[in-house]
Amino acid sequence: MRVAVAGMGYVGLSLAVLLAQRHEVVALDVVPEKVACLNRGTSPIVDSEISRFLDECARGERVLDLRATLDAAEAYTDAELVIIATPTNYDEHTQYFDTSSVEDAIRAVRAVNREAWIVVKSTIPVGYTVQVRERFGDKRILFSPEFLREGKALYDNLHPSRIVVGVDLSDAACVAFGHQFVSMLQEAVEHGVDSKPVPELIVGFTEAEAIKLFANTYLALRVAYFNELDTYAKARGLDTRQIIEGVGLDPRIGAHYNNPSFGYGGYCLPKDSKQLLANYDRVPQNLIGAVVSANATRKDFIADDVLREVDRLRSERGVEDPVVGVYRLTIKPGSDNFRQSAIQGVMQRIKTHGVRMVVFEPVLDTAEFLGVPVIRDFDEFAAQSDIILANRWNECLSPYADKIYTRDLSHNEQ
Ligand SMILES: NC(=O)c1ccc[n+]([C@@H]2O[C@H](COP(=O)([O-])OP(=O)(O)OC[C@H]3O[C@@H](n4cnc5c(N)ncnc54)[C@H](O)[C@@H]3O)[C@@H](O)[C@H]2O)c1
Repeated sequence: MRVAVAGMGYVGLSLAVLLAQRHEVVALDVVPEKVACLNRGTSPIVDSEISRFLDECARGERVLDLRATLDAAEAYTDAELVIIATPTNYDEHTQYFDTSSVEDAIRAVRAVNREAWIVVKSTIPVGYTVQVRERFGDKRILFSPEFLREGKALYDNLHPSRIVVGVDLSDAACVAFGHQFVSMLQEAVEHGVDSKPVPELIVGFTEAEAIKLFANTYLALRVAYFNELDTYAKARGLDTRQIIEGVGLDPRIGAHYNNPSFGYGGYCLPKDSKQLLANYDRVPQNLIGAVVSANATRKDFIADDVLREVDRLRSERGVEDPVVGVYRLTIKPGSDNFRQSAIQGVMQRIKTHGVRMVVFEPVLDTAEFLGVPVIRDFDEFAAQSDIILANRWNECLSPYADKIYTRDLSHNEQ
């Protein structure tokens, strides 16, 4: 099938590479550097599997029918399927997702192609697909939620937890295309989680949208829960590790996804939980609002705890003007992305107290970030810092263990 993918980010690029194994794929973006990068055979994002696939293709060990373009008409005109994977940022003013890039893409497709099926992979508000199909008078738009993790984008599409497609269940053609899209993803799968087959769900549009936002809000809830457990333990001088181990041994709870952090971060969990809260409009709830506000409370607690350390350095160790160093802005190891990372919120809170700060972030090429000097040399950064904030532990921090402030207990869980 001739496939066009709009947006060469984590979602779009991983799907483009995945489908290019069996289909003719054109990836479209509005950023010239990304297009040029992919056309040189390299990945514009940090993702080990995408890089491996592209390297193998360059060496002739793998066939990928993939090219990139900036030209929407070139990408869309002959496409039979267009996948939209453009951003849907949360707009603080409207308190709703900004879906304009999805609508721009739909308009650009229909300007040159009335026939192609459009599958929206961007995360959208609950109810969006029905509205957009009505607004555009277009029955060939579907929604399929994406569940990949950043840094493991292609890996997660090769080993998905499930494939969900939202369709108009009363429209046979739409249901049939939903099944066809599932098949295209299934034939590219290596195997599901724990080597099991990948479950498929064909559901209504609105249910598919709800699945995505409820799944991410549950993940945010789980992070927030173990962070709040850690806040309690830290405030009361208890051993967080012992408590979490004892809690997780209940098989209904499990010992996974329970490693404390400075807060849930990344592009998706903060915005998706806020969007779900907005969708609750006039529907009673307590938990969803609590998930959203718990993250700010956690960052306040971490910042206050660090400020107490700063005071202790002043009063007990005589350090006149302690420097707080921020080790990495990224949300987790193996990622080049620091959209909405919790450590930034902590950093901003500490900075408002006039504490001197420095940042170590190799993916930044600016001299300052949020008014804080960036140091590119790790040893110089560590030497200048009296306290080093690390949301996630890294082996390079070991020699400076007495300076490290982290709540990361497992040191290897992402
Ligand atoms: N990142 C994730 O882990 C993840 C997981 C599941 C779902 N999602 C959702 O998928 C969507 C995309 O996320 P992402 O992380 O891949 O975003 P991203 O910001 O990494 O990539 C989006 C890309 O779209 C491009 N773009 C913007 N407008 C465009 C247009 N009109 N035409 C073509 N390209 C355009 C941007 O230049 C960018 O390269 C979002 O809705 C997000 O919520 C993301």
